[in-house]
Amino acid sequence: MSTRPYSKIVILTGAGISAESGVATFRDPKGIWAEYDYQDVATPEGFSRDPAKVLEFYNMRRKLHGDVKPNAAHVAVSRLEAEFPGEVIVVTQNVDALHEAAGTQTLIHMHGEILKRLCNACQMRETWHDDFDANAQCPSCELRGTLRPDVVWFGEMPYHMEKIGAHLESADLFISIGTSGHVYPAAGFVAEARRSGAHTVELNLEPSEGASLFHETIHGKAGTIVPAYVDHLLEAATR
Ligand code: OAD
Repeated sequence: MSTRPYSKIVILTGAGISAESGVATFRDPKGIWAEYDYQDVATPEGFSRDPAKVLEFYNMRRKLHGDVKPNAAHVAVSRLEAEFPGEVIVVTQNVDALHEAAGTQTLIHMHGEILKRLCNACQMRETWHDDFDANAQCPSCELRGTLRPDVVWFGEMPYHMEKIGAHLESADLFISIGTSGHVYPAAGFVAEARRSGAHTVELNLEPSEGASLFHETIHGKAGTIVPAYVDHLLEAATR
């Protein structure tokens, strides 16, 4: 393991960090995309074709998210932010609220948040914990049928890309946790960080699609390997 001193860490997380909290991943054999066709439930075209189906899918997922708790990996990421003597930025592809629940402060939700909804007509955003249907009325513009979950679908631009690019450029350590590396632009962050001179580390259950792009890879369950890696980083930083 590299023990060079770091001053700025960017952490990218994906569904694998929430797996041990009971949130389904996407591409595992029992993952969400084994049960649903993403073109039906996670594209703007799918939403135009059948808004009721899409809203039902997200109502179901929102309900499941209501009961989940952060696991040891979320807690370790939050501890790193609190105790590391430099900057720590967490960029997540996850729409759950488990990083926040674990206490992470500097967090970028690049694929949006399942506990928010967005009006396609007036861009109103609000926190929303309940079901809603295709007839729901926007509290701001008062139109009906314009509300959608505030999540980024395939074919849409993820949020905060400029800010993320700037963080990757100035990071000296990039850590990817629990992501299969199938979905861009997130899958390209390791190459961006490397170009800027960062050391890059993958922490995942198994080698991801882009595993060979990382300087270091550690494979195992996030709830075990993330706390161990955070201990190692904090020990090296305070040595
Ligand atoms: P995936 O489901 O593609 O990948 C999850 C990764 O986590 C896999 O490589 C698993 O091996 C790994 N994994 C599973 N359990 C783990 C555990 N306990 N500890 C560590 N790793 C574990 O999920 P993402 O890469 O997050 O986007 O998917 C990226 C995007 O694709 C999502 O944000 C979503 C999806 O379609 C949209 O819906 C737009």
